[in-house]
Amino acid sequence: MLGFPIQYNEPLFRPPSEGRSLIIQITLGCSWNKCSFCEMYTSKQFTARKQEDIFADIDAFKLHSNSIQKVFLADGDPLVLSNKRLIPILKKLNETFPKLRRISTYASPSNLMRKSIDELKELKENGLVLLYVGIESGDSEVLEAIQKGETYQTTVDGLNKSKAAGMDASVMIINGVGGKLLTEQHAINSAKVLNATQPKFASTLVLTAHKGLDHYKNRYLGEFIELEESELFEEMHLFLSHLELEETIFRSDHASNSLVLKGIIGRDKSSMLAQIEKAIQEGAGNRKRQYHGC
Ligand SMILES: C[S@@+](CC[C@H](N)C(=O)[O-])C[C@H]1O[C@@H](n2cnc3c(N)ncnc32)[C@H](O)[C@@H]1O
Ligand code: SF4
Repeated sequence: MLGFPIQYNEPLFRPPSEGRSLIIQITLGCSWNKCSFCEMYTSKQFTARKQEDIFADIDAFKLHSNSIQKVFLADGDPLVLSNKRLIPILKKLNETFPKLRRISTYASPSNLMRKSIDELKELKENGLVLLYVGIESGDSEVLEAIQKGETYQTTVDGLNKSKAAGMDASVMIINGVGGKLLTEQHAINSAKVLNATQPKFASTLVLTAHKGLDHYKNRYLGEFIELEESELFEEMHLFLSHLELEETIFRSDHASNSLVLKGIIGRDKSSMLAQIEKAIQEGAGNRKRQYHGC
């Protein structure tokens, strides 16, 4: 059996919806690498890979050039690189894969703020059409506690800038990330960020303490008291009830979610709220539930 054409620098992460995409590592690790909850790249030192190594990885898939339609650029925040570095990579991908429909990557609001609208448009024109943005919370106090390096305003501005450049965003909010003390403001201000930016996709994940809760608490700036499962549902309910989104496709179907919700907020919000209410009443958080909203 032939081996995989390239060797990845592991661990390697991609969003669930990029499961059928070719992944090309542009950078290794995360240039920020400080978020209290995130252990994804703590084993790696941030590095920008050499252009010739990236091109060699792309060339390694030439044999499959006609079947590759989607490419995801890894690792944590490739948009930290200048357009001078990024544009030749996007051009090379387009030349090598004639059926390419979409290039996507992770991006933080700060990555987006550091680029001009014209630079973002140039990336979009060269095929980078979808950004996965870990908002995590819309509340500036929570963002400070989790060391995200963002505020409500930088998040709104970064997302609206990429939108003005014609890019789509898929944003992530972490249920429970501010604990009991900040749950209300986390829910309400997270909804507010989404209302102000109207992303194409939004999803929620539940806070997972991969190295144990004490490790998370040590990296959290402030007092953190974990939410019970019913309180996680209540936070979700408050968040959803404040959403005013027209076309956003919403999902909470990550493995961390014990209550699965899917739908278009503008159409399915009340059904999703009813689903959460039912789960709270039944205390049924330990069972996987499916909401067929779309
Ligand atoms: C690779 S990171 C995001 C990329 C980009 N650097 C950013 O910050 O937007 C992927 C996302 O997984 C989620 N995530 C990471 N660790 C998590 C944890 N311990 N619990 C819940 N969600 C987590 C966060 O939403 C995070 O933004
Ligand atoms: S959440 Fe994103 S910005 Fe924060 S450490 Fe993880 S990869 Fe880096």
